[in-house]
Amino acid sequence: MPGDVLPMWVADMDFRSPPAVTEAIIKAGQHGIFGYSKSRADYFEAVYNWFDRRFRWKTEQAWLVKTPGVVFAAAAAIRALTEPGDGVLIQPPVYYPFSRLVNANQRRLVNNPLIYEKGSYRIDFEDFEAKIIENKAKLYILCNPHNPVSRVWTREELIRLGDICVRHGVTIVSDEIHCDFIYPGHHHHVFASLKDEFLDHTITCTAPSKTFNLAGLQAANIFIANKDMRKEYQEEIKRTGYSQINMAAAAACQAAYSCGSDWLDELILYLDESIAYVKNFLADEIPQIQLTEPQGTYLIWLDFNKFGLSEEEREDIILNKAKLWLNKGTMFGVEGRGFERMNIACPRAVLKKALTQLAEAFRGQDGIV
Ligand SMILES: Cc1ncc(COP(=O)(O)O)c(C=O)c1O
Repeated sequence: MPGDVLPMWVADMDFRSPPAVTEAIIKAGQHGIFGYSKSRADYFEAVYNWFDRRFRWKTEQAWLVKTPGVVFAAAAAIRALTEPGDGVLIQPPVYYPFSRLVNANQRRLVNNPLIYEKGSYRIDFEDFEAKIIENKAKLYILCNPHNPVSRVWTREELIRLGDICVRHGVTIVSDEIHCDFIYPGHHHHVFASLKDEFLDHTITCTAPSKTFNLAGLQAANIFIANKDMRKEYQEEIKRTGYSQINMAAAAACQAAYSCGSDWLDELILYLDESIAYVKNFLADEIPQIQLTEPQGTYLIWLDFNKFGLSEEEREDIILNKAKLWLNKGTMFGVEGRGFERMNIACPRAVLKKALTQLAEAFRGQDGIV
């Protein structure tokens, strides 16, 4: 990518991690001996407290399986709990590795597209159940909050989904990696916390990586309460050859969850103001671009359909005129046609520059004066 193009695509932030994280990594580094390591005895306490304090979800140490990431964890779930040819359901437009993992593992992709209406997304529950029955789907990958449409699913929506899954014996992989980015007026519900039957059917995927900008450290905390399911899952992890968390990642995760609460609260305020800035900017400068109401995550989902451009034409303007690197909507499924995903976890000045470049590039296109 040319050096003058602003990268606003991959889902990590331009912000430094909390100082306590850097200090923990430096301390681990100063030890100077980097042999095979376990996380500290009080690692779980930090993870437990985070989910208890922020989401009122009480986990147990026995449920925890550590993996090098959430994508790795979802792949392991697909392999552990389904057979080649089995149906795995996803809700596009959705985080693109989901469909890739299903296809790469020779499972059958079952799509339950979200419904886009008046600038927001909702679930097609009738289609959800029909697709499960028709395809005898074994596994459902839930994305909550949803990347890229930034919906935070409500308690009622999650219960409706969960009841359908339980009724048909479908296991849920609940990817909650974005759970810490929730904007005022919305509330994250840990899916497995809503009913005992849900807990029994669910693999809950969490990680400190989005929240504290630690993606490069490669660590995730996966919770599986159902003992038999956990055993099968752990067997699959063993087959991959993975055995223990990276020592620097463990130190960083523990420090982040122990000391990062105030840092995160400040970050959410900043991002919420950035969203307000985007809304005002688009309304004043390029009202043809419709912002999907952001409820969670730091990824915004922009509808460019009013311009009537082909994907190639739009991409050309974004890259060569606006000088921005975004994610084109069709990466997330054909349902993303005409959309772009933009990462706003950057200083406001960068966001301002990016939006100004976007407005200038699209000025002169149909409908823009
Ligand atoms: C929904 C979702 N799941 C998983 C990931 C990546 O997780 P990991 O880096 O732990 O594999 C991302 C990153 O963007 C994501 O948006």
